[in-house]
Amino acid sequence: MVGAGLMGVGIAQTFATARHSVLVVDTDPECLSVVPTRLESQLALLAAHGLTTQADAVATAGRVQTRQSLDAALREVAQAVRHLPDGSEPAGLVVIEAISEDLAVKQDLFRHLDEVVPSSALLWSNTSGLSITAIARGLRHPERVCGTHFWNPPHLIPLVEVVRGERTAERTLDETAALLSSAGKTPVIVHKDVPGFVGNRLLHALQREAMALVSSGVASAEDVDRVVTQGFGRRLGAVGPLAVCDLAGLDLILQVDSYLLSDLERSPHPDRLLEELVARGDLGVKTLKGFLPWTKEAVDEVIERRDTALIKALRGD
Ligand code: NAI
Repeated sequence: MVGAGLMGVGIAQTFATARHSVLVVDTDPECLSVVPTRLESQLALLAAHGLTTQADAVATAGRVQTRQSLDAALREVAQAVRHLPDGSEPAGLVVIEAISEDLAVKQDLFRHLDEVVPSSALLWSNTSGLSITAIARGLRHPERVCGTHFWNPPHLIPLVEVVRGERTAERTLDETAALLSSAGKTPVIVHKDVPGFVGNRLLHALQREAMALVSSGVASAEDVDRVVTQGFGRRLGAVGPLAVCDLAGLDLILQVDSYLLSDLERSPHPDRLLEELVARGDLGVKTLKGFLPWTKEAVDEVIERRDTALIKALRGD
């Protein structure tokens, strides 16, 4: 696992829970040093809700180790594979990238991985929406590269979008989807490498309209959010937007679309209010001010509320 940030630790936990050994690598020693405590608290929350036992949580955390040097970690993995007892299953290697969302930085890393990682290994990128084709451009083995877009928090949200780059092999997609399924995830294949894949296109379309409604004074930020959390958001967890169309009746959806769509926000530019907030340094919970005012306690409370709801959904699954 390359990158021990917000996403990397949860992804490492997912695979450790599925009994894989995980080496987490990060260039920042401070990020690495907090991995054990982050894992411990994430696993404790699952144990508190009966989704793991104390003993399993300890074993899971024990399968995750941190290393500062990527090359040393890769050498260690290669040696471990060579020393497997006779007759044991050949271990596969997957390198999962979750570093900064910067194309040039990701390309550098993949060029290096392409050189030093055996061509049988899979290389996954957790990019939020950069082109997988561009990340794999110029590599000797682009066929083993695909996107695996986990959602935050990655140990609590089942979906992973598996993104096919122009040169991704079918076998890479099949092996990736199988590995994700066996780790309890729900892989969805994205057949075209479009910006934002499927999930972020849907989410950002909703956020663009939400910002436009606030900017134009139709409703407050609190109330726009309330319309989703107390309204159709409740339903979306069980029934997706296209099934909602089918349930409502496509004739009705057609009638509504005929007068409504032309009035929806369709600016190709970021919302003006969003630009103003960022220019002012109001970045959301990072600065305790965004569309909504925040306190440290409110941030902790909303994350706990989110995680508890996600854990309840997992228990339901
Ligand atoms: P983050 O900033 O929390 O963590 C990134 C980590 O990568 C940092 O600890 C940094 O020290 C490390 N790093 C940077 N360059 C490195 C290198 N060359 N080698 C080793 N480590 C390096 O970022 P976060 O939020 O975890 O995002 C990681 C990736 O996942 C990004 O591509 C992001 O777009 C994507 N993503 C993020 C989501 C989110 O909600 N934050 C959701 C889905 C995807």
